[in-house]
Amino acid sequence: MRIPFIAGNWKMYKTTAEAHHFAEELKTMYGETDVRAAICAPFTQLETLVRDFAGTGIGVGAQNVYFEKEGAFTGEISVPMLEEIGVDYCIVGHSERRQYFNETDETVNRKLKALLETKIRPILCVGEVLEQRDAGKEKEVVSGQVRAALEGITAEQAERVVIAYEPVWAIGTGKTATPQQANEMCGCIRDTLEELFDDAVADRIIIQYGGSVKPENATDIMNMEEIDGALVGGASLDPAKFSEIINF
Ligand code: PGA
Repeated sequence: MRIPFIAGNWKMYKTTAEAHHFAEELKTMYGETDVRAAICAPFTQLETLVRDFAGTGIGVGAQNVYFEKEGAFTGEISVPMLEEIGVDYCIVGHSERRQYFNETDETVNRKLKALLETKIRPILCVGEVLEQRDAGKEKEVVSGQVRAALEGITAEQAERVVIAYEPVWAIGTGKTATPQQANEMCGCIRDTLEELFDDAVADRIIIQYGGSVKPENATDIMNMEEIDGALVGGASLDPAKFSEIINF
């Protein structure tokens, strides 16, 4: 049984005061649920959120990390630094980082390996750009990204990775993949996991869909067989919308 997992990705939004206000509001709306939830926030908001969400069951995640433990890497944050704050998750390989900050399959793989030495669970993002979909290459691209990211990672470690299928053309555009398109791609990711490991392992890995998820489309997306959760950008900035998505 895969437990549904819905994570918010705030990107570069919210000050610490705003994050604290969000947490206070979300806590009043967050009740009994079988869904796992988390907020992935900018580094400077993590400590506040860990404190604010303590004891609520709502997890906290970072949006990036560097793979070296320490050293002369100006501006970077290491896995032990995140561990010390007490974060539960860390997004790796988001398309915005691949597009604007030179994230490659190789750095994604190194970051996953560094995180998997700890209790922090990586949320690995994969997804094709529009030209790749138009050329009919979406499965090849996404399956290739999954293989490269999980290179050298054991089955036991892989079970702790959350995979987010995020078609780049659907992020922040208001264009959502249809539930069928999203389901087909999450199925393709699960097939790839089956080839890399085995069907029992593939069956246990949480696969999310991300790209313009909002309260209006969350139920249809979450009802698809291969989709176990969502990575929510824009709609996660509003506690009412995020809580509606959690209670899809
Ligand atoms: P969006 O972003 O929900 O605003 O499309 C999703 C994401 O980038 O994770």
